[in-house]
Amino acid sequence: MGGREHWTGRFGFIMATAGSAVGLGNVWKFPYEAGQNGGGAFLLLYLFFIALFGLSLVIAELLLGRTTQRNPVGAFRALGGGAWPLVGGVGVLAGFVILSFYIVVAGWTLAYLGFMISGDLGADPAVLGERFGAFVGSPLAPIGWAALFMLLSVAVVIGGVKGGIEKASRILMPALFVLLLLLVLRSISLPGAEAGLAYYLQPDWSRVTMETVSSAIGQAFFSLSLGMGALITYGSYLQRDANIAGSATIIVGLDTLVALLAGLMILPAVFAFGFDPSAGPGLTFITLPAVFAQMPAGQWFGIAFFALLAVAALTSAISLLETVVCYFTDETRLGRKGATAVVAAIAFAMGVPASLSLGVWSGITVPGTSLGIFDFLDFTASNLMLPLGGLLTAVFVGWRWSQPAAEALRGAGMPAALLPVWIAVLRYIAPLGIAVILFGALR
Ligand code: TRP
Repeated sequence: MGGREHWTGRFGFIMATAGSAVGLGNVWKFPYEAGQNGGGAFLLLYLFFIALFGLSLVIAELLLGRTTQRNPVGAFRALGGGAWPLVGGVGVLAGFVILSFYIVVAGWTLAYLGFMISGDLGADPAVLGERFGAFVGSPLAPIGWAALFMLLSVAVVIGGVKGGIEKASRILMPALFVLLLLLVLRSISLPGAEAGLAYYLQPDWSRVTMETVSSAIGQAFFSLSLGMGALITYGSYLQRDANIAGSATIIVGLDTLVALLAGLMILPAVFAFGFDPSAGPGLTFITLPAVFAQMPAGQWFGIAFFALLAVAALTSAISLLETVVCYFTDETRLGRKGATAVVAAIAFAMGVPASLSLGVWSGITVPGTSLGIFDFLDFTASNLMLPLGGLLTAVFVGWRWSQPAAEALRGAGMPAALLPVWIAVLRYIAPLGIAVILFGALR
């Protein structure tokens, strides 16, 4: 594997991996899921899962990649053999599924960037909801924007690890963070924002069901880019003695902070403007234009925000694409360009029905479920495939792999005192916890 590319340094690795984690999951998905699932209760469950096994699993995945210098399938094969490579295979499949609906939502951010530039959305809350519904429901425009976004991702991934992914992440992620902070301040100072703050920060446990718990665990996995081997892939571009435990703590901390801030940006404004917190996938896109309309230089904030959100989505989509591409370039005779083109074409083809299911195909549900195509892809990948991938990764590292402790301590390794905690989480806590919730989600 002598020719494998590596990150240029620790900062680049952290930024690229945080770039993978921070994306639409934080800014689009987290606020609307919290809005639908009881606000503060969802927030606490999400934080609980991240602390309980999110961080440990992030470390485990990165370690598998760093040790083997392989794609997810190759990593499981190198260390486990038998049927274990299938775990990586399920991950690669999940990558396709997530990418297909991810580019649809990312396309919305590009479209909203356009709406902000032309300034034609208006400020009337009632109209903003209708505009969103009409846009995502139209047959062609959202698909065109998704195609454009897919092409942007392809361009970066073809550029390779250093040229593309790292450079794109280094500058723009910090910029997004600063803008989020400003928008939080604007949102919580709106008249009527207190109700939203209370909703977000005071848990209402009466609204918590098994479904809430399953969504919270799915959100933790989705937001951390966990459970499909994306982190194995990014870990495989680390030098063998690179720091993992410390970097992972920073990455998980940043990702969680951005989700927290996004909730603080959206939910107070939702209440201030009288929107419905359980509006679903449109929540961010409906609420923010109303916020921008009420602030000085709001149009400029709007332009900057959707531009940076599109970039955050790009650095995440890149990691999804890169994971699948890495599998094909490592394991087949396809070159990087060919693999990227094939993967992007298939994911885009799956994205088309996902987009149509929010408009002209909205009456269609996937057989055996009550979900439309978009929701079905999201539910299957986020709430089933990722937790399953995480469960099996925990079992693999905890029970099957012979050397996790030595590898974890290697280089600027994990503090030795934490090693038994990490092993106990992977052996018992993560598998049992995830299994219970998966079982509940499927019943
Ligand atoms: N974490 C990203 C987000 O929050 C999405 C993402 C990128 C992802 N790569 C992933 C999710 C791998 C699961 C697995 O937007």
